Amino acid sequence: MFHTSFIEISKAALKSNLRFLKKLTGPDVRLCSVIKGNAYGHGIEHFLPLAEECGVNYFAVHSADEALRALMSRRKDSHIMIMGMIDDDQLSWAVENDISFYVFEFDRLNAAIYAAKKQNGKARIHLELETGMNRLGFDWEDRNKLADLLVRNLDHLHIMGICTHFAGAESIANYLRIQNQIANFNRYHGYLRKKGVEADMRHTACSAPLVAYPHTKMDMVRVGILQYGFWPSKETFMQYLTQNGKRRMTDNPLRQTISWKSKIMSIKKVRAGEFVGYGTIYQTTDDTLIAAVPVGYSHGFGRVLSNLGKVLVHGRRVPVIGMVNMNMMIVDVSHCPGVQREDEVVLIGSQRNNRITVSSFSDMTNDVNYETLVRLPREIPRFILE
Ligand SMILES: Cc1ncc(COP(=O)(O)O)c(C=O)c1O
Repeated sequence: MFHTSFIEISKAALKSNLRFLKKLTGPDVRLCSVIKGNAYGHGIEHFLPLAEECGVNYFAVHSADEALRALMSRRKDSHIMIMGMIDDDQLSWAVENDISFYVFEFDRLNAAIYAAKKQNGKARIHLELETGMNRLGFDWEDRNKLADLLVRNLDHLHIMGICTHFAGAESIANYLRIQNQIANFNRYHGYLRKKGVEADMRHTACSAPLVAYPHTKMDMVRVGILQYGFWPSKETFMQYLTQNGKRRMTDNPLRQTISWKSKIMSIKKVRAGEFVGYGTIYQTTDDTLIAAVPVGYSHGFGRVLSNLGKVLVHGRRVPVIGMVNMNMMIVDVSHCPGVQREDEVVLIGSQRNNRITVSSFSDMTNDVNYETLVRLPREIPRFILE
């Protein structure tokens, strides 16, 4: 292999997560698989066809460039929805390719109508309502103007969805804010219906609200992190356990779909009292056996994990010692008898009975799961495991 590490994606884990999600959503709610951020590090081109094989046919991306990648990888009957950025210049392309996109302000709505007219077609849109996140969405104060413009242009618009996004349902601290958002959404949706604006679906929930506020699942849920086998937060996991009368942390129905592996590049002995690597941030206290692993911060293993991270060698958690370099890190393998050059190193995933989860990786750095995953570079080769 030319690369210094590789990623494995488990089809069995994905299938199992999707089965769990189906139990949460029930049979009548559509699942939209969120594959923005390079499918949370899994790789759009790898993950999308795999999800299709597992029965998913609705995908959400952030931007037009991701939509283009999804378009090249999807089957004809799969739908792509852009939740964020697309230039007005690309709207005709979206209309032409039946890609739906969020509309959250009048400039974009007018541009969508214009693009649809030019194509002599209909723009497939999702109306994003401002309900209290204060990020994107039509304000309640503009409801009249919005309804009028929509009703006047229904020949050029296919309103696939009316939607909003919650401001942090993974934390109970946001409970009241979320409740207000739900009420605001229902009020706005009710108003638009009365004015004759009908959508195919209402969708508001991503992973955390699906667990914490199940009534927000409505007609479709946009699920990212859960499908990849991670909880949005520990709180959400605890909520799941308590709601379902589970008592043990091992009652985790999710399986991580991703593993990240490398191997030992070189091994050497260092005497007690020596500094390891750049500078003086790590000094050995005993004679130490060290191993160089060819993964560094340029590969997504953050510098903040210097003297802090753990990886698996011979099924043991071994510490990263000294600074994480651009392309390399040093780990202490003194307690791995018989350790050799080329032995497997697991950066995320399991080895024998031990496991490095993205969350424990993230706990060490205060990162959230999402950030660690999406930082995995595109160049790392990805392989699908059945
Ligand atoms: C609008 C929107 N919907 C859905 C999601 C998916 O979120 P999650 O990964 O928590 O399921 C995101 C991600 O941030 C989002 O921005």
